[in-house]
Amino acid sequence: MTKVLINEQLVDEQDAKVPYNDRGYVFGDGIYEYIRVYDNSVFTAKAHFERLLRSAKEIGLELKYNVEELSELIQELLSANGVINGGVYIQVTRGAAPRDHAFPTPSIETNIMAFTKSYDRPYKSLEEGINAITTEDIRWMRCDIKSLNLLGNVLAKEYAVKYNAQEAIQHRGDIVTEGSSSNVYAIKDGEIYTHPVNNYILNGITRMVIKSVADDKGIPFNEETFTLDFLKNSDEIIVSSTSIEVMPVVKLNGESVGEGKVGAITKSLQEGFNNYIDKHS
Ligand code: PDD
Repeated sequence: MTKVLINEQLVDEQDAKVPYNDRGYVFGDGIYEYIRVYDNSVFTAKAHFERLLRSAKEIGLELKYNVEELSELIQELLSANGVINGGVYIQVTRGAAPRDHAFPTPSIETNIMAFTKSYDRPYKSLEEGINAITTEDIRWMRCDIKSLNLLGNVLAKEYAVKYNAQEAIQHRGDIVTEGSSSNVYAIKDGEIYTHPVNNYILNGITRMVIKSVADDKGIPFNEETFTLDFLKNSDEIIVSSTSIEVMPVVKLNGESVGEGKVGAITKSLQEGFNNYIDKHS
């Protein structure tokens, strides 16, 4: 029977219930992480747990676990479910309380929940690339927080699905920010361009790995804003995340990107990413 982690207990999936007045459910008042498992090893776990702690701090949520404790809880869940390759979702909410926008006083117990998925890497799309579509970024101004409030992201992804694309690349006015659930890179004349880390994007863990791979390979990694036009005229486009890794975009708004196939810089980053996984799992 698949187990779900609910407040330090591993419970059978069908018994995994949360209270109707949990603030995560009522207000989206909580934070989350999604972490990958390769070959029985939790990939870049520390960076993910540290980001969870940061998100908690930014919304004034007192998390009662440190990185080691979170790591132990998640490891226990993964072992119980026998996950070899897959991922683990973990969320923490401010807890259950009568509905009132302001934080409950005195503060209440937070609720932590985690579940796992077993699946393989997306080899086919990594080799062939995906289609993306562009859409206005309608989200709030704190996209650096991995908040449970994902309505803007959900609507963007649904827009992509409607137009037969796998990802929606968002822009605020003319400036490209990030995907609905990924970071975005434009590659032009052998250099990588990606939105700087600030409140308009999530500081992706995969982005950090890509940056270190690019540095090792001597590929310029420019953390600069760029426009929609620049994106449309780039030689290669990548979107990255924990689940889609270093994913090539070969069609943007129905038009071929560059030569319409996976480009050389993308392939080189993918190779570096694979080596990084091998070394760190
Ligand atoms: N999403 N930007 C957004 C808006 C995201 O939702 C994600 C990841 C990323 C990439 O972050 P990372 O490389 O740390 O996964 C960027 C995860 C996969 C999700 O919501 O499931």
